[in-house]
Amino acid sequence: KMDAFLDELIAKMTLQEKIGQLTLLTSNWESTGPTMREGYKQDIAAGRVGAIFNAYTAKYTRELQQMAVENTRLKIPLLFGYDVIHGHRTIFPISLGEAASWDLEAIEKSARVSAQEASAEGLHWTFSPMVDIARDARWGRISEGAGEDVFLGSRIAQARVRGYQGDDLGAIDTVLATAKHFAAYGAAQAGRDYHTVDISERTLRDVYLPPFKAAVDEGVATFMTSFNEYDGVPASGSKYLLTDVLRHKWGFDGFVVTDYTSINEMVPHGYSKDLAQAGEQAINAGVDMDMQGAVYMENLAKSVEEGRVDMARIDQAVRRILEMKYRLGLFEDPYRYSDEARQEATLYKPEFLEAARDVARKSMVLLKNEGDVLPLSAQAKSIAVIGPLGDSKTDMIGSWSAAGDRKTRPVTILEGLQARAGEGVTVTYAKGASYAFEDEGKTDGFAEALALAGKSDVVIAAMGERWDMTGEAASRTSLDLPGNQRALLEKLVATGKPVVLVLLSGRPNTITWANENVPAILHAWYPGTQGGQAVADVLFGDYNPSGKLPVTFPRTVGQSPIHYDMKNTGRPIELGAPGAKYVSRYLNTPNDPLYRFGYGLSYTTFGYSPVTLSAASIGPNGSITASATITNTGDRAGEEVVQLYVRDLVGSVTRPVQELKGFEKVMLQPGEARTVRFTLRPEDLAFTRADMSHGWEPGEFQLWIAPSSGAKASTPVTFTITE
Ligand code: IFM
Repeated sequence: KMDAFLDELIAKMTLQEKIGQLTLLTSNWESTGPTMREGYKQDIAAGRVGAIFNAYTAKYTRELQQMAVENTRLKIPLLFGYDVIHGHRTIFPISLGEAASWDLEAIEKSARVSAQEASAEGLHWTFSPMVDIARDARWGRISEGAGEDVFLGSRIAQARVRGYQGDDLGAIDTVLATAKHFAAYGAAQAGRDYHTVDISERTLRDVYLPPFKAAVDEGVATFMTSFNEYDGVPASGSKYLLTDVLRHKWGFDGFVVTDYTSINEMVPHGYSKDLAQAGEQAINAGVDMDMQGAVYMENLAKSVEEGRVDMARIDQAVRRILEMKYRLGLFEDPYRYSDEARQEATLYKPEFLEAARDVARKSMVLLKNEGDVLPLSAQAKSIAVIGPLGDSKTDMIGSWSAAGDRKTRPVTILEGLQARAGEGVTVTYAKGASYAFEDEGKTDGFAEALALAGKSDVVIAAMGERWDMTGEAASRTSLDLPGNQRALLEKLVATGKPVVLVLLSGRPNTITWANENVPAILHAWYPGTQGGQAVADVLFGDYNPSGKLPVTFPRTVGQSPIHYDMKNTGRPIELGAPGAKYVSRYLNTPNDPLYRFGYGLSYTTFGYSPVTLSAASIGPNGSITASATITNTGDRAGEEVVQLYVRDLVGSVTRPVQELKGFEKVMLQPGEARTVRFTLRPEDLAFTRADMSHGWEPGEFQLWIAPSSGAKASTPVTFTITE
């Protein structure tokens, strides 16, 4: 039925009408890139645009939809897209924070709620999930993804696609998802946004592509190209990425949109001599829709007429886009998502706010808790909240929370603690320090903060980065706490009062001094609309923290890029005596990071039994099961993320020292023990071999089950895969 409908429609379309469907423009409500195009409403009425982004609310999308449906010859409805990244109105923790929960159900739930709210405001399509692997904390967009790991990142990509799209794209409360930014955007040189990417094809295939492939396997509807080049070709002009890999190898059947003006940017990249050539290169490479650049709109007709672009390719792109409109039910009712009554009944539902609070507390990572400073004891009768992030609504929801309210809704840490504190407990605030770069060296608020600390039982230092210091175009060359926060932190610690550092940030920060001197540290990311309550849940012990880091925290920025699954090198540091020269090490800093991937503490403790294997050797069609028993050895119920790591000892190309191959989050009551089992097949150990084929290789493997990538809680066991 759909095919016949689309055949008939496309047959009626003029070339200009077709190109209109390939054009996405921003409304003038807000801009998420450097250029604006005036007159987009005239473009809609003239059929020159098929999709709009940055416009939402039932009323406004209905108004724009009406312009398309009532004025254009073929009455083709518009598609409305938007950056719904970690919540739409009800904001969840930033994506990196959600990843720290290692809780796929919670992450899926967050995407589900986002889709429910977004679709109730007339939106059909989110530019999420961002599935870029990121291993360099200087890169501001590290906050938007799932961290550094291929396995975890792939599972999270799938959970998010499931959450947004549900089982049925035609259901009124689901939206199209976008796997972005295709590809290798996170490998920007020196962590500078939009910078050149220069990585091997093997690294591309083994590290950067798997989460995209996972999204395709989950049925993701659309892909977005990235701003960077790969192997000398900007992604929006890369036939290799967009056609050879995405279509031919993976069989993706949705549509591909560019990132903002990235076809135009092929000119400054030095890949296209002018916009006309850029448009031809993009469409011929496999870009279906042009975001905001109007390159297709202004050049493509001539390119087709002069034979540089085939009409068949235009028809293919148009069909892919119209198919999504059809599947969303827009041809039946163009206004079905623009329903003010549904909008009214849906936004900020109490259950959504509760879900946001739940995901927020699950995302928090307890990095240190010396002397059990946390949870706060009943003896703490006066609590001082100090720091620029202690009472800031603006910062709580982080970046890319586009429709999020930063002014009134977010619950601050101060408010959350005040609401939770029992009778007779006071919670008082002093800003004390500033996160503004230019305030480094100033001491203006110190005296007030120190006076407050002096008369309090415990200090909660809420410090970190301003919300827009991560996200797009927010790279840094230092990962230190910005402004004068560290200086105040030192003075707070010097008072002798117990200090808890609650870190709000979208990237790993180099908090090496704090790790040595502050007794308790909780990473709260940017926790979202209900963030203050979630922080209170954790600090008071109403929730036992269970998050684990999805990224490695370096000791110093000079260790970047750093990740847990590095190679051994020919001169691993262990080969030399401490301080030896001629091994792979720094003169002034240990190789080890500050906190490892997978690390995070709990208010309870867990014991790991030795690992048992179902077999010592398996053949090509076999599988092996590894088990360990995890026991809650403390006196509180808690969740543990049990992690499976494997090392492929010898390969036709060198292999990482460890790779995550499984994880399970288990809830254990005090004293309770649970056996966790992971089953691996040879395909799970596949990689890009010396001859560039994808597959596993026979040989010996080490395997261990652990609470983090740094802790071999159990002695590694060895198994063999035979030919
Ligand atoms: O979706 C975003 C993308 O991640 C960065 N550039 C702008 C796009 C649309 O807002």
